[in-house]
Amino acid sequence: MRSTRSIKTALRFAVLGAALLCVLAVTAAAETGAEAWLRYSALSPQAAKTYQRLPHKTVVLDDFVVLKTAQQELVRGVAQMLGETLLVAEKSAPENAIVLGTLPQLRALAPELHLPRDLRSDGYWLKTAKIRGSECLLITASTDRGVLYGVFALLSKIARAESLAAIDEEQQPYAPIRWVNQWDNLDGRIERGYGGPSIFFADGNVRGDLTRASEYARLLASVGINGCTINNVNAAPGILEDSFIAQVSRIADVFRPWGVQLSLSVDMSSPKVIGGLDTFDPLDPRVAEWWRKIVDEIYRHIPDFGGFVVKADSEGRLGPSTYGRTPADAANVIARALKPHGGVVFYRAFVYNHHLDWHELKNDRAKAVYDNFHPLDGAFDDNVIIQIKNGPIDFQVREPASPLFAGLRRTNEAIELQVTQEYTGQQRHLCFLVPMWKEVLDFDMRVDANATPVKDLVAGRTFHRPVGGFVGVANVGMDANWLGSPLAMANLYGFGRLAWDPNLSAEKIIDEWTHLTFGSDPLVVKTITAMQLTSWHVYESYTGPLGAGTLTNILGNHYDPGPESSEENGWGQWHRADHQGIGMDRTIATGTGYIGQYPPEVQKLYESLASCADNLLLFFHHVPYTYVLHSGKTVIQHVYDSHYDGADQARDFIAQWQLLERHVDQDRYHDILQRLQYQASQAIVWRDTICKWIYRLSGIPDQKGRMQAASGPPDTPDRH
Ligand code: GCU
Repeated sequence: MRSTRSIKTALRFAVLGAALLCVLAVTAAAETGAEAWLRYSALSPQAAKTYQRLPHKTVVLDDFVVLKTAQQELVRGVAQMLGETLLVAEKSAPENAIVLGTLPQLRALAPELHLPRDLRSDGYWLKTAKIRGSECLLITASTDRGVLYGVFALLSKIARAESLAAIDEEQQPYAPIRWVNQWDNLDGRIERGYGGPSIFFADGNVRGDLTRASEYARLLASVGINGCTINNVNAAPGILEDSFIAQVSRIADVFRPWGVQLSLSVDMSSPKVIGGLDTFDPLDPRVAEWWRKIVDEIYRHIPDFGGFVVKADSEGRLGPSTYGRTPADAANVIARALKPHGGVVFYRAFVYNHHLDWHELKNDRAKAVYDNFHPLDGAFDDNVIIQIKNGPIDFQVREPASPLFAGLRRTNEAIELQVTQEYTGQQRHLCFLVPMWKEVLDFDMRVDANATPVKDLVAGRTFHRPVGGFVGVANVGMDANWLGSPLAMANLYGFGRLAWDPNLSAEKIIDEWTHLTFGSDPLVVKTITAMQLTSWHVYESYTGPLGAGTLTNILGNHYDPGPESSEENGWGQWHRADHQGIGMDRTIATGTGYIGQYPPEVQKLYESLASCADNLLLFFHHVPYTYVLHSGKTVIQHVYDSHYDGADQARDFIAQWQLLERHVDQDRYHDILQRLQYQASQAIVWRDTICKWIYRLSGIPDQKGRMQAASGPPDTPDRH
């Protein structure tokens, strides 16, 4: 018989075990990644002490929905992180409170306060100040949405244990447009989406349960994103059917408390396809009338509707060219319908001919964006924004900044960045894109020989445009962790932070994100930030050397290696690799003349082999494989070395991550470990495919003798 003591011990262990299981279950439930950077985990008692002087109550100065949301978020965040339930008090008793309200509301409450005269729309001010002689913490802004952003900023500081003592911080967004696009189809699939099906649509209808859409709006608001286009740019005309607009308005209802405006992608042929007209010619008065009626109808359902995104005359989509009309004709007819309601049109500059003759060496898809839109500068209404992809081709692992950014002086513009990793590893490879985006945003176009970084051009600052900014193609889905990989969420966070302030460094952004997403263990922060910050270069080094583009299967999944798929077809993603050399000659002197689209100082930079950076060499120049780079290596040896180095670095990510085994929750630890192991194996596939391909073409062996044996003899006949 067991003694009473041993039964007691066994019982104690059983209880402990059960308790442990509960804790693990709680941890597991909490760490699916669904909370993303809004985890609000409890601070350590030591860190919580920093906030002892935080007021214990909160007042809100009006009951508008966004202000109410802001207050609820504040209460939730403080409760979770500091374990304290803030008392919600009447505005007649603001003493010793966290006070939430707009500037006019605050002026009315406490005329004695020295408040800023105005803050740019959506900007906010966090300030400790005395009201009626007692200390308060003010969160104020010009708009309700600004107050909400101020609350998120405050909570982010607490989550990162930043001191709030004597806080006096004013933050203004860089540009008014900070939107995401979702490429969701009405059947629930997402074009280039890697995080599960649509959070908005299923089986041709808006989902019954929009909880995730509401949670998404909260995430977006927390980084200052103020608009979301919910459907694919390859738009189904049916989105504008009356019955569908009523459904869509339910999504707007869940966005509204978070200050996120809903917008729609539309198909230019809609007046004909669903409107019953025999034309969609933008200059036909019946077409104009049709758009006006549709827009009025939308605003009846969605009074804060944002506007439309248009993809036309591109990749098979119909557009104004059907009637010999211009993009300006098309954009303006819609813009005029939206204008009385305050809506805008994003007209995408991604217009090109995908049946280009590849035999013709002067043909160049990269020229299309500028050629199509520069001549129309000044022809667009002032509520039209030209949405321009960061580079002239299509979200490759490296491209130069699109010359169109500098080519529009009398037209609004926005930069389109791709959060979803279509050409950059589809969330199965680690690729933190903020360093890449920053290179583009900081790139100086030297317009009129002055400093003109792309970020100022797109924000409308250079040419004093009324509107402009940043659009990110996000494509989150129903997967608990939104993008399919917990580490990929750094790109969504980073997009929002850069859209708010493109002067933030990549280091600062990833440091914030890591603290918020994984906590403040120094080893965790150091390891994850280092991995993220090197990840783009690692990915680039085994997928797209020297600016040649991502050497992927461009006719299929845009994921596997497939360098030959870029050539000998009309898509124009050519790298022109043959037996002698590689690269697109885009020079003014001997090539396609693309370089001539840039302002003169940038032309000089790229035209000359002496000044063109190695990392864009093959984008701008066709060179022999034996050409010696600034680095001192030949092109061919660089390709071999970078692929081997990249694959080695991808493998090293595994060991770096394994250091964190006992430092992050088991769910995310194992999920990420498996992803990194998979990435390392894929990097080898990439390495071997590209090295064999280029060896077969060039016949030049790797100086380090790493792969000839496996590759067989080089090809002989000349292909071109
Ligand atoms: C890329 C992408 C398409 C998308 C297109 C666009 O080509 O592969 O899926 O429709 O860009 O931006 O319109």
